[in-house]
Amino acid sequence: MKINIALWALTLMVLPASALAAPTEPAVSDPSITPRAPTLPLATDGTALLESFGGTAGLTRIMDDVMVRWLANPRTRPFFEGSDEERIKKQLVEQFCVVMNGPCTYSGRTMAESHKGMKVTEGAFYALVEELQISLNKANVPFFAQNRLIAALAPMHRDIIDK
Ligand code: HEM
Repeated sequence: MKINIALWALTLMVLPASALAAPTEPAVSDPSITPRAPTLPLATDGTALLESFGGTAGLTRIMDDVMVRWLANPRTRPFFEGSDEERIKKQLVEQFCVVMNGPCTYSGRTMAESHKGMKVTEGAFYALVEELQISLNKANVPFFAQNRLIAALAPMHRDIIDK
C-alpha cells in the first residue's frame, strides 16, 4: 500500500500530459503478471485494460465496494453523506469504462461542474484514491492496470481540488 500511495503521489506530481498521449511500458512489479509485448497506448489498447477490471460488471462491483469505504472513511465521508450514491457509482462506471477505451458513453457532468463548491481538499482526494486502491486490490486488478487507470485520472485533480 505504501508503494501504491507513493506511486500515486509521484504520478500526480510528475505526470506530464504527453505521458498520457504516449505511455511507455508500465513497470510490472507483480511477478504473477506476464507483460504483453509491446504494451499499446491506453487509447489504442482495445478493451484489454477494461477486461482486467472485470469489464463493466467488475467496475460496478468495485464501485459498490468503494462507496461503502468512502462513506466509512472520515476524510471522505463528509462529501458523500447525503449524496446520490447510486448516481455517482453509475457515473463512475461509465467514466472509468470510457477512460479504458470501453464501449461506454459518459453521461455525467464534467469534473469541474460536479465538484464545484465542494472544496475538496488534497487530503480527501488522496483518501479517496487510497480507498479505491484497496477495492482494486480486493478485486484482484493487476497492479500495472491500477496504475494505468490512476495515471489517467491524475490530471483530473486540478478540476476537483479546492473548487
Ligand atoms: C479522480 C478523482 C475523482 C473522480 C474521477 C470523480 C468522479 C466523479 C463523477 C464521475 C461524479 C458524478 C458526476 C455526475 O453526477 O454527473 C462525481 C461526483 C461526486 N464526487 Fe467525485 N470524483 C473524484 C474525486 C472526488 C473526491 C476527492 C471527492 C470528495 C472526497 C468527490 C466527491 C464527489 C461527490 C460528493 C459527488 C456528487 C456530486 C453531486 O451529486 O452533486 N469526488 N465524481
